[in-house]
Amino acid sequence: MKKTFLIGLVVAALVCAFALPNLSAATKAPADMVLKAPDGIKMKKTPVAFPHGKHEAMLKDCKVCHHTFEGSGDVKGCSAAGCHDKDGKKDQMAYYKAFHGKDTKTCVGCHKAEKKGPKSCKECHPKK
Ligand code: HEC
Ligand code: HEC
Ligand code: HEC
Repeated sequence: MKKTFLIGLVVAALVCAFALPNLSAATKAPADMVLKAPDGIKMKKTPVAFPHGKHEAMLKDCKVCHHTFEGSGDVKGCSAAGCHDKDGKKDQMAYYKAFHGKDTKTCVGCHKAEKKGPKSCKECHPKK
């Protein structure tokens, strides 16, 4: 009886030790990211430095950007199938619209509305 209880405790401790970091790993992004177009889109511009951690802290709500995220499970990337593509196929214009335009949920749209953060092409896509 005593022994099974102890084993139970050990098992519970192990489950916690391994399950918790895994849970948060699925929803944790690096503080600083470099964004690139996915395979299937020819990049005309340079990759974009994106301080994810700073935006997380500033905006609090993940759904501003991850608009299909329900607070648990995997966070989908912008170029996931059926997201910023055209009829399920990679498309430069559809992908471009996820980051630029008037919609204040896009990078450029929000920076223009807020009058903060980079707004010109070369600030985000530095010349090679
Ligand atoms: C200002 C917009 C913005 C906000 C706010 C934001 N994210 Fe992100 N996040 C992004 C972008 C852009 C990517 C890159 C997506 C891609 O690669 O297609 C990303 C990627 C991720 C990834 C994937 C990382 C990887 O290695 O592929 C995770 C996980 C993530 N975000 C979690 C979160 C969580 C949790 C929050 C809220 C606490 C959050 N994000 C808030 C824009 C944002
Ligand atoms: C909903 C609003 C919002 C969205 C969406 C957003 N940003 Fe920002 N971003 C801001 C604000 C506000 C600042 C200014 C922060 C400051 O000056 O402290 C900023 C600042 C920045 C900076 C400068 C950081 C620094 O340390 O000076 C970069 C780079 C940046 N954003 C990139 C992006 C990229 C790339 C995306 C899209 C993937 C994006 N942002 C989406 C609001 C947003
Ligand atoms: C606030 C940052 C920001 C600004 C300002 C910005 N972009 Fe982008 N752009 C991005 C992000 C993020 C992506 C997606 C990641 C990638 O493809 O590098 C992107 C992707 C692109 C793409 C598709 C991928 C590629 O390399 O061909 C094009 C084209 C593009 N941008 C052109 C422009 C042009 C032209 C301007 C100026 C009118 C501009 N961008 C301004 C952030 C920005």
